[in-house]
Amino acid sequence: MHISVMGELDSKAEADRLLECIHESGRYEIHITFLDANIVTRDIVERIMKMQEDNRCKVFVLKAYLYSYFLSLGIKCFLVKKKSLLNKTYQSNEKLNCQDFEPEQVEDFLRDIYDKYGYDFTEYRKDSIIRRIKISMLRYCMTCFEEFRERVLNDQDVFEQLFLDFSINTTNFFRDPEVFTFLKESVLLRLDSYSHIKIWSVGCSNGKEPYSLAMILKELGILHKVQIYATDINPYVIEEAKNGLYSISTIDDDIDNYKKAGGAKDFTDYFDITCNYMKIKDELKENILFFQHSVIEKGILNEFQMILCRNLMIYFDIVLQKKVLRHFYNSLDDGGFLIMGKSEGMLLNNGYEHFVDYNEKHKVFRRKNLSFINHESPYNGKG
Ligand SMILES: C[S@@+](CC[C@H](N)C(=O)[O-])C[C@H]1O[C@@H](n2cnc3c(N)ncnc32)[C@H](O)[C@@H]1O
Repeated sequence: MHISVMGELDSKAEADRLLECIHESGRYEIHITFLDANIVTRDIVERIMKMQEDNRCKVFVLKAYLYSYFLSLGIKCFLVKKKSLLNKTYQSNEKLNCQDFEPEQVEDFLRDIYDKYGYDFTEYRKDSIIRRIKISMLRYCMTCFEEFRERVLNDQDVFEQLFLDFSINTTNFFRDPEVFTFLKESVLLRLDSYSHIKIWSVGCSNGKEPYSLAMILKELGILHKVQIYATDINPYVIEEAKNGLYSISTIDDDIDNYKKAGGAKDFTDYFDITCNYMKIKDELKENILFFQHSVIEKGILNEFQMILCRNLMIYFDIVLQKKVLRHFYNSLDDGGFLIMGKSEGMLLNNGYEHFVDYNEKHKVFRRKNLSFINHESPYNGKG
């Protein structure tokens, strides 16, 4: 039996329909081809995994993103390349160098992308964007920027790959563990006096950051009164985060980070572990709301006591950093905490107009309130 899956499978009804088809196949060998999906739900992953254990399921995918996701979880699959994405003239031993292009060409291109696809990268740092464009061009063996630009603007698949190249999703459980120790020992204890705590993890990638936070909150005994909003511009990492399935290949580093962060339990207690992957337990998912959202969008999501925006601002130019910091100022409670990444800060972007240092080393800042602006700050001590 062969099932071809068209579209993104982004509704429960579509996912259920696929599961039904699989069920109907009975004990026959089944071949599934995912034509457009970049990600699939946890039920589907687990079902395929089960069938592969019984040697009765072959999987073919056309999207590189889904291919890497499946491989990371131990699902055997074949990547089928769309003919339209191959450059026929390329010889594999040819050394490719992109032609140089001007920053103005890139600015026009980013505006066109915004007009056509609705994603706004116009105020991202140009050096990083240019690097990513070159990586994407070489992926298609293209050296001419104008040709690539046309391709992106006329082919959704090519744009999608560029979008994935722009959204760099590197993350870890307890990334920079000493920051989590500091949150646990200082910041979160201060928030304990609230009856309800709202935290926003901005640019949460595949969920490892908000899940790490949920583990600490659980160990402090306050997870039940916390709502974590976890958002990212990239819809596929959000689905990955909701799935909560992770490769076990990095488990030693994860355990190490957890211990360095002062974890009080056994890291693996938070997962159901199979031989290929680990599945986050539902008790950690209940207080996290994952959804796609770009931090550049106007409009306040809620009033938070703490915002984590780590390793994202480095991709923004100074003008955008200022706007986003202003946005965080408006989204935080008086004295609310903002946590940034190790190599980020408040110096060049006038952040100190709105925030004061709480702990410089760990990049923890506090929102100024009106009395901060007009008088001496009562919170100017380092944490
Ligand atoms: C390098 S990862 C950082 C992940 C995590 N915060 C950490 O520090 O481990 C940056 C994330 O920001 C996301 N991102 C990029 N632009 C964004 C935007 N405008 N709004 C929200 N998320 C964005 C990317 O998709 C990516 O997942």
